[in-house]
Amino acid sequence: MTQSTRDGFTSSFGVLLATLGSAVGLGNIWKFPSLTGSNGGAGFLLVYLLATLLVGLPLMMVETMLGRAARANAVTVFDRVTQQKGWKIIGWMGFCAALLITAFYSEVAGWVYAYIFKAATGSIATTDPKVAQEVFGKLVSDPISSLVWQWVVLGLTGSIIMMGVSKGIEAVARKLMPLLFILLVILCIRSLTLPGAMAGLEFLFKPDLSKITPAVILTALGLAFFKLSLGMGTMMTYGSYFREDQNIPATTTRVMFADLSVSLLAGMAIFPAVFAFGFAPAAGPSLVFMTIPAVFTSMPGGVIFMTTFFVLTAVASVGAILSLLEVPVAILSERYSMGRKKAAALTVLAILLMGIPAALSQSTMADVKLFGMNAFDLFDFLSSNILLPVGGILICLFVGWVYGLPQLQKQLSNDGALKNTALIKIVFFLVRFIAPLSIAIILLHGLKVI
Ligand code: PHE
Repeated sequence: MTQSTRDGFTSSFGVLLATLGSAVGLGNIWKFPSLTGSNGGAGFLLVYLLATLLVGLPLMMVETMLGRAARANAVTVFDRVTQQKGWKIIGWMGFCAALLITAFYSEVAGWVYAYIFKAATGSIATTDPKVAQEVFGKLVSDPISSLVWQWVVLGLTGSIIMMGVSKGIEAVARKLMPLLFILLVILCIRSLTLPGAMAGLEFLFKPDLSKITPAVILTALGLAFFKLSLGMGTMMTYGSYFREDQNIPATTTRVMFADLSVSLLAGMAIFPAVFAFGFAPAAGPSLVFMTIPAVFTSMPGGVIFMTTFFVLTAVASVGAILSLLEVPVAILSERYSMGRKKAAALTVLAILLMGIPAALSQSTMADVKLFGMNAFDLFDFLSSNILLPVGGILICLFVGWVYGLPQLQKQLSNDGALKNTALIKIVFFLVRFIAPLSIAIILLHGLKVI
């Protein structure tokens, strides 16, 4: 595909919203709270914040920059920006990560879809942990509904992606984000005014440093990557649709802050309620599906709010899934001169197959384990805790040691139009030394290699 015919985003605000659409998703509403809960609360949050600021943000800038500089998919980027052959592995790892993530992510999205109907019919309107656990348990342990909901998600997102970049992604991302934000704020207010809410805030903001182990640090780092869709070519692919005059450092910083605020809001909506109603903070993946309905149940108009909330969360998951699918779809369609439709169909088919063990991991295939993990957990671990960090190291090393400062200057300043030399120098220093070194140490410690 030539540069001029490459589809792209039409306005700079559209770019911001679409990138935000990739970042904000189940990572904020589901993964962030469940990991924060099961890894001890505030200490985990602190590491996550550091990882986001010192590693995530600079990586997001350079990843987006590479995409825009080369205007290509995550593999072809490296054909265009360097003569050295090996770096393409980054794109292929991203290809695998996208499939692995979507295989379990689409399952969680399926639960959200199912909860829309449960919310509307009032069947999850309870503040009783036992009842809530039962409803959730029934859904995930039913193989047929697990599969069908996942297929609904994949069918829907697959069809959107076939319609193309600007029309499909931008339109969906644009409309509903602000609404979700408002609903989270309402949820927070209710949760924070529940009797006993303080214990939840303490859990979230008063760090107990003894809970921070190497494995916890690796999980927090993995979450930082997952949250900002980093280390696997999503931001490269999205960057390739960025406008020439887009201010990359400013846009990525805004996305990072917006994403972080959504996560924090979700945390402040959930943890006070966890303590107020007596849920277990370490409940894991079920945490959100039990606590959120409980908060809504304890306010007037709960059923309507609750239903709207799950609809909006479903929409947020669509934006993220589209950006996941876009990685393999762009690689397949551009490298194998395949039509977009065919590339999308192949990608969805692959995920549909890989998704089966993930969907059945709490029912039919619950006993099928590798390294002590079922398929769902394994896909999550392999992608977030291994592929994304390794991809991150490689991207940093590439920009820091091969691509170099002069080119980075040129790209991130839009050829000198933006006066941000000092900032770029800091970014360069971080990606050349700090980020790759710290990711490597965290990875090796977290995996108990050293
Ligand atoms: N960032 C998305 C979320 O938080 C998930 C995602 C990960 C999307 C990796 C694209 C790539 O939900």
